[in-house]
Amino acid sequence: MRTLMPDNGMAAEEVLAALSALKHKDCDWKNGRSPAYAFNPVDEIYELGRAAFLEYFSENALGMHRAFPSVKQLETEVIDMALGLFNAPPKAVGFTTTGGTESIIQAVQACRDLARATRKTSARRSNIVAAESVHPAFDKAGRLMDIDVRRLAVGADFRADPAALRAAIDDDTIMVVGSAPCFPYGVVDPIAEIAAIARERDVWMHVDACVGGYIAPFARMLGRPVPAFDFAIDGVCSLSADLHKFGLCPKPASTVFYRSAEQARFHPFEFSGWPNGRFYTTTIVGTRPAGGVAAAWAVFRHLGVTGYKRIAEDLLTHVDAYRAGIAAIPGLKVVGDPHLSIVAFGSHEIDIFRVAEVMAEKGWLPGLLQKPKAIHRMVSRLHVPVMDEYLSDLRAAVQRVRQSTPAASTLKAIY
Ligand SMILES: Cc1ncc(COP(=O)(O)O)c(C=O)c1O
Repeated sequence: MRTLMPDNGMAAEEVLAALSALKHKDCDWKNGRSPAYAFNPVDEIYELGRAAFLEYFSENALGMHRAFPSVKQLETEVIDMALGLFNAPPKAVGFTTTGGTESIIQAVQACRDLARATRKTSARRSNIVAAESVHPAFDKAGRLMDIDVRRLAVGADFRADPAALRAAIDDDTIMVVGSAPCFPYGVVDPIAEIAAIARERDVWMHVDACVGGYIAPFARMLGRPVPAFDFAIDGVCSLSADLHKFGLCPKPASTVFYRSAEQARFHPFEFSGWPNGRFYTTTIVGTRPAGGVAAAWAVFRHLGVTGYKRIAEDLLTHVDAYRAGIAAIPGLKVVGDPHLSIVAFGSHEIDIFRVAEVMAEKGWLPGLLQKPKAIHRMVSRLHVPVMDEYLSDLRAAVQRVRQSTPAASTLKAIY
């Protein structure tokens, strides 16, 4: 039945109480029950991000070029700090956006328009060449811009297969993509090899570091074996990295970067044939919260390199323990060899989706992979305090599935 707007409004306290009551149906993310979607425990970083966001609650990042120069300054400083992290050359350019999907769509559009402007374009559809593990945001971009996305099988190590990418590139290819890491398997693609192919074939290379961008640099500083993935590699033309994931900043916030101003040339949108005059934006959306930009600035300034390194060290040490805990349960095996904090595990002996069902009964919302069948988690600081509880429930769930009569699970992997 349709909900009608009430004739008379409710008191603010009642409305807030009703909101809070509604949440009881939701996944208990604060206690680590969600495999993804939320990242930050309610701690000092969370409170700072929230306070900075609220400080800029009414300001509109759309108006940063005229009404709110402070927002422009905050964006510039966030971008500068990030460019330093990603070894970007002095002429590199970047923008904040509302999320990974928007960063990716913008990069594809900047690439497509530059290809149109500088190459002989054919009447045929352009294409993007990528491993099947890249995020669906590329397909969303393809749908919006009539570009085909050629998704190719990953190698035995679940990383993009450079030879397969090379073979799929043709005269209509405008972009080749590598993930750092990809969401399904948590592995960083062989970015340097893919970039060499992109250079050789004169194709734009985008690195999707949406999920890894703000943890991988710190993991590398800590000496962890995370492959190089950024502008230090010649041939990387653009890179997306989400502030609202391991950047530990409130949603909505992401960043997208280009090696040069020439490559960023078609990123902004400009239109002057409007009664109101020139309209200029650097995002697909128009109005967007300045809070996301201010909060990112605050969290960057607060944590600094030392703070992010400390958090990365702590989280990744727990991820090591998590992987060891999984490996210690007979019948379970981690998928591939994840580089950072996304870990999936499956089984050759039992139906892992049955295990996910049992875990769901205990309140753990399952993240699932369909290829191969696995339980998937983007391990964040929210999972750390409940890791032992999770592993103990997992051990019991595996045992229960082993002991019960074999029955196929009806679960379907959905993100
Ligand atoms: C590798 C990767 N790229 C892009 C995205 C899209 O990000 P968003 O959900 O912020 O649009 C995600 C989200 O998880 C991701 O993991």
